[in-house]
Amino acid sequence: MLKTVPRVLSSRNDLIAIAIARYITSDNKVGARDSQQANRFNSTSSPIRKKSTQTTRMVKAKKYVLVKHFVNDPKPTDLKLVEEELPPLKNEEYLVEAEYLSVDPYMRPYVQRYPLGSTMIGGQVAKIVESKNPNYPVGKRIVGYLGWRTHTIINPKIIDETDMMQQRPYILPDIGDLSPSLGLGVLGMPGNSAYFGLMEICKPKSGETIVISAAAGAVGSHVGQIAKNLGLTVIGICGSDEKCKWLKELGFDATINYKTAPVAETLRKVAPQGVDCYFDNVGGEISSTVIYQMNPFGRIAVCGGISTYNEDALSLPKCTVLQPAIIINQLRMEGLVIWHWLNRWNEGIEQNLQWIREGKLRYRETVTKGFENMFDAFIGILHGENFGKAIVQV
Ligand SMILES: NC(=O)c1ccc[n+]([C@@H]2O[C@H](COP(=O)([O-])OP(=O)(O)OC[C@H]3O[C@@H](n4cnc5c(N)ncnc54)[C@H](OP(=O)(O)O)[C@@H]3O)[C@@H](O)[C@H]2O)c1
Repeated sequence: MLKTVPRVLSSRNDLIAIAIARYITSDNKVGARDSQQANRFNSTSSPIRKKSTQTTRMVKAKKYVLVKHFVNDPKPTDLKLVEEELPPLKNEEYLVEAEYLSVDPYMRPYVQRYPLGSTMIGGQVAKIVESKNPNYPVGKRIVGYLGWRTHTIINPKIIDETDMMQQRPYILPDIGDLSPSLGLGVLGMPGNSAYFGLMEICKPKSGETIVISAAAGAVGSHVGQIAKNLGLTVIGICGSDEKCKWLKELGFDATINYKTAPVAETLRKVAPQGVDCYFDNVGGEISSTVIYQMNPFGRIAVCGGISTYNEDALSLPKCTVLQPAIIINQLRMEGLVIWHWLNRWNEGIEQNLQWIREGKLRYRETVTKGFENMFDAFIGILHGENFGKAIVQV
């Protein structure tokens, strides 16, 4: 049965509040294929106890289960919202309640590798509401890859080596009166991707020129501001005039709306000096175009390829070959996986927090209200609805 749910989208520090109709179905079934694998992912060897077979009611959790792998644009019917009863806590365990959930582009390609029946993947900031572990006291908040679920029991001693999300739940550091949701954005994974990707891969120098794609997203808007503070000329590519305007407010020197302007021609105009660093969030033809305007010894951080996430992996679209530009200009191109800097995680958070406190780093969140609107928030980032970090407030 289809039903319509109102969705409120608000942009923190800003004005937008729109209502969008949404459709969900309640009659999906978990596919039989892969059920064995799904059991493995739900097994008790996971640090996250996802399933209860006990009948005594303690807490009811809601979660989204993958019932069909995405084909092109994800559809609401690919996921099913289900309820489960959680068992009483055992020693060492603690129970958390989600306050903010993250929707991120990586979910689109990553979840394809999980079996049907798995809980939809994702990070959240959650409050500890019950605990049998003195290291995780009631009232503290954690940041963890618990999936799209409202309540979760965690045993920190059990580690699931099969999980692609390599970070264990951690206590949200003290960020004073800032919103805990920042632990999913500027003071979390996207913020650290911006910081380490720019500093360690692009190795920016004052006076150089950097181009950033998906520049009005969580990572891009952050990269541009650090680069500006370091004395670079900063050019952002994004998908609307309103986003271009916001990037200018953040201090970007020039912007290109890739939906309305020819990227190659416009980039030649705004960067006649050529490009030294490229922070690539989108891949595809936009990236080929930028790379052909790079200077000798330019550096490219390949952070994401969102322009192809909705494509069939077996028939990816073709784009201009890069080898001539890379060879002739002796460019250095390096992939970024944020887990590489897990051992420096707090350094990134502390540095970004300091820049926020000093007024050198601004952030924006696009907040969708209601756990029942997770899917819309997720599809929204693939369609470019968000300014800055997209999150869902439960
Ligand atoms: N490797 C890592 O460890 C790591 C870590 C974090 C993020 N990432 C990657 O970094 C990228 C940015 O992440 P984020 O969190 O900043 O994303 P985000 O805030 O969710 O923003 C994504 C933006 O991408 C743009 N976009 C969507 N489809 C596009 C297309 N076909 N062509 C060009 N732009 C498109 C949209 O803005 P427009 O309106 O401008 O189109 C959208 O708002 C993603 O590719 C993500 O997977 C990688």
